[in-house]
Amino acid sequence: MKNIAILGFGVVGQGVAELLTKNAAEVKRLVGDDLYIKYILDLRDFPESPFADRVVHDYAVIAKDTAVDAVIEVMGGSHPAFEFTMQALAAGKHVITSNKQVVAEYGAEMLAEAKKNGVCYHFEASVGGGIPVLMPIIEILRHNKVREVRGILNGTTNYILTKMFTFGDSFEASLADAQEKGYAERNPDADILGVDACRKIAILGALVSGASIDPDRIHTEGITAIRAQDVAVANKNHMAIKLLGRALCEEDGKVMLMVAPFLIDADAPLGGVHGVYNAVEVIADPVDNVMFYGRGAGAGPTASAVVGDLCRCFTEGTHTAPIRFEKEPERLSDFARFTAQHYIATDAAIEAVQAAFGSVTVLSEGEELAVLTDPINEADFEACAQKLIASGAKVLSHLRKLS
Ligand code: HSE
Repeated sequence: MKNIAILGFGVVGQGVAELLTKNAAEVKRLVGDDLYIKYILDLRDFPESPFADRVVHDYAVIAKDTAVDAVIEVMGGSHPAFEFTMQALAAGKHVITSNKQVVAEYGAEMLAEAKKNGVCYHFEASVGGGIPVLMPIIEILRHNKVREVRGILNGTTNYILTKMFTFGDSFEASLADAQEKGYAERNPDADILGVDACRKIAILGALVSGASIDPDRIHTEGITAIRAQDVAVANKNHMAIKLLGRALCEEDGKVMLMVAPFLIDADAPLGGVHGVYNAVEVIADPVDNVMFYGRGAGAGPTASAVVGDLCRCFTEGTHTAPIRFEKEPERLSDFARFTAQHYIATDAAIEAVQAAFGSVTVLSEGEELAVLTDPINEADFEACAQKLIASGAKVLSHLRKLS
């Protein structure tokens, strides 16, 4: 029998316990042994839960129990998740997590500690919920030359944008609905300001480039500035607006990382990803475009990824491909060099826009003018926008377009 401890008995922790109970036969067939939940660490008690007798409030009980084989850290946040993980790894216990914050911030340290102690640190559930995406990148696609990995990495914002696009719902009503369904983070700012997606692209970026970049240094925009008028212009031009995380591997070995809302052609692969669904597109040579799609949040999907990792600890041990996930801050490319077509909505006349930006494509005219510029980099866009503003005009909205 293998003994498991679950740290955190929230939506994901309870999902893991339920999965291990309901699918015990499938798990046993795979692992060749019973998996027993020996401890659940939480500040709260759960008197109604079938696991009430396993709840402990002191991590030391778990840390010092040499019979615990694996720890599932689903507490969220970096502290004390990082310290608990390091203690467990040092004590020779496998650790599995869905906690993207701690992976994005301390992945390099925890992977090194796992290696040192001959145990596993797995984090498939930290990106894309139930979608198996990290393993394919680590194992199956690693001989490819990756040019970009990009994706819809946050279910809550995709749900909100889908409701705004499809039903004309307000931002606030759509967010409340997402929270009610358990998709949103405890503090929804992490979703709507792009912070959650930023942590996930930091992880994906590290896996494809080998460079782990501090999430605080990644250019990050959320969806709060998107207006009903922008949605209408996009719809009219057969485009969607999606919050994308993008990691572009550049020829000079640097990696360009960002999170921002992008206009996307509605029939592009990512343009058709709706609701709480996530998708990750890997563009690499010679495989070309590969897309992974599924539920990016929720108890069942996230627990599926966690338990998949847990089983791998016992079936594969550490015989998986080594992950390069090194702190290499100098590998982050300067966002000012990022080149794209830019969308602006403005109260200016077309002549003023052309005087500032040169040739543009008009998407909509009326009370306000919406245009797409030719491809320009961020620094040049900023200079052109300042020129337009200096002419007395307002930039009412700004997005980039995925080419
Ligand atoms: N709040 C996150 C989301 C949960 O909406 O995608 C999964 O990381």
